[in-house]
Amino acid sequence: MKIAIPKERRAGEARVAASPDTVKKFVQMGFEVVVETGAGDGTDIADAVFQEAGATIAADARAAFESDVVLKVQRPTEDEIALLREGSVLISALAALTNKEMVQAIAARKVTAFAMELVPRITRAQSMDILSSQANLAGYKAVLDGVHEFKRAVPMMMTAAGTVAPARFLVMGAGVAGLQAIATAKRLGGIVFAFDVRPAVKEQVESLGGKFVEVDPEATKDAETAGGYAKEMSEEYKQKQAAKIAEMAVKSDIIICTALIPGKPAPVLITEDMVKSMKPGSVIVDLAVEAGGNCPLSEFDKVVVKHGVTLVGHGNVPSRLAVDASSLYAKNLLNFIAPLVDKETRTLKFNWEDEILKGACVARDGQVVHPALAG
Ligand code: NAI
Repeated sequence: MKIAIPKERRAGEARVAASPDTVKKFVQMGFEVVVETGAGDGTDIADAVFQEAGATIAADARAAFESDVVLKVQRPTEDEIALLREGSVLISALAALTNKEMVQAIAARKVTAFAMELVPRITRAQSMDILSSQANLAGYKAVLDGVHEFKRAVPMMMTAAGTVAPARFLVMGAGVAGLQAIATAKRLGGIVFAFDVRPAVKEQVESLGGKFVEVDPEATKDAETAGGYAKEMSEEYKQKQAAKIAEMAVKSDIIICTALIPGKPAPVLITEDMVKSMKPGSVIVDLAVEAGGNCPLSEFDKVVVKHGVTLVGHGNVPSRLAVDASSLYAKNLLNFIAPLVDKETRTLKFNWEDEILKGACVARDGQVVHPALAG
C-alpha cells in the first residue's frame, strides 16, 4: 500500500501532513511512502530528510496522487480532486461542513474521504484530535502576535528609572486556544482575565493563574452541549455579557478572541463602541476571524488600526508555527491510521460501526455519507 504526502498548494499554507518520524513509522508498518518534492519547504524539512526516513520523492503532484492513501493538511483544490485515484483514501482537514460541493466532488471520484475535523472528541480519539493540537499552538501564537503589535512591555518591571506597569490581557473564550493564551500571557508576566459561557472552565482558568469573569452563573448552567461545546446564548445573557465586557475592555491592553460556536458564525463580543472606548495602542487579536470574528472590525489576514486600536486578524495561525503544527498534525494522522492497519494484508480495514470512523467519514462508495451533509 502506498501513502502519499503531496505538497500543500493553498495560499499561506506552510504545513505538511507528515514528519520524518511519521514516515519512519509508516515504513515500519510495511507501507511505501511517497512525498512530493518540496512538501517540507515550509517546515525546513528537505526532500533528503524524508528520504532518509524511508520515503521516495515524487517529482510532482500527479506522481504523488498515484497512491492508495493521500494525507493532506488543507482540503484539496479542484485540480487535486481531479488527481485523486478512484478507490483511494483521502485523510485531511476538509472543513467539510462548509464545503459540501467539494465533498460531493470527492465522492464522485469514488474516493473514501475522512474529515479530521469531524473526529469525535471522545477520550479514545484524543491523540487524533487536530482541532486541539492546532488550536493549542494558535492560542500561544495569538499572544505573541498581540505582544508584537503592543508598544509596551508585558511584565511589571521596577527599575531605577521608574516602574513599568504589567499589561492586562482579556481572553474571550477559554477553550483549547483560550487556555493556552492564558498560560502564555501569564508566563510573559501579564495580568489575565478570561470570559467563557461554559462555567466548567472557571477552575481551569484559575488553575492557570487567570481571573475568571462571571457574567450570570444562573444563565450559564446549561450553556454547554453534551459534546462540551458552547451553545448560542439568550438575548438577555448577551446583554449582560456585553455590559461586563464593555467594563473590562476599557481596562484591557491586549484582548485575545477565541470564542467559537461550532457550525455557527462566531459570536460578536467586542463591538465598535467597545473598541472606541479602549486605550490608544491597545491590541485585539481575533483568532475567530475566519468564522466572522468576535470583533466586527477585525479583517481576515490583515493587521489594521481602527480608533487607535490595532486589530490582528491573521488567517491560518497554526501555519505561522508550521514546524510544531505539522509535527503534531502528522502525529494525529498517524494515530488515526494505526488502528486501521491490517497487519497481514498491510492495508487499511474499516470497521464502519466504529464511532470514530462514522464521525469522520464524509464520502464512501461514490456517496456523500455524513449525516450532517446529507440532503
Ligand atoms: P471552540 O473552539 O468551539 O470554542 C472556543 C471557546 O469559546 C469555548 O470554550 C466556548 O465555550 C467559548 N465560547 C463560545 N461562545 C462564547 C461566548 N459567547 N462568550 C464567551 N465564550 C464563548 O472550543 P474548543 O476549544 O474546541 O473546546 C471546546 C470543548 O471541547 C472544551 O470543553 C474542551 O474541554 C472540549 N474538548 C474535549 C476533548 C476531548 O475530550 N477529546 C478534546 C478537546 C476539547
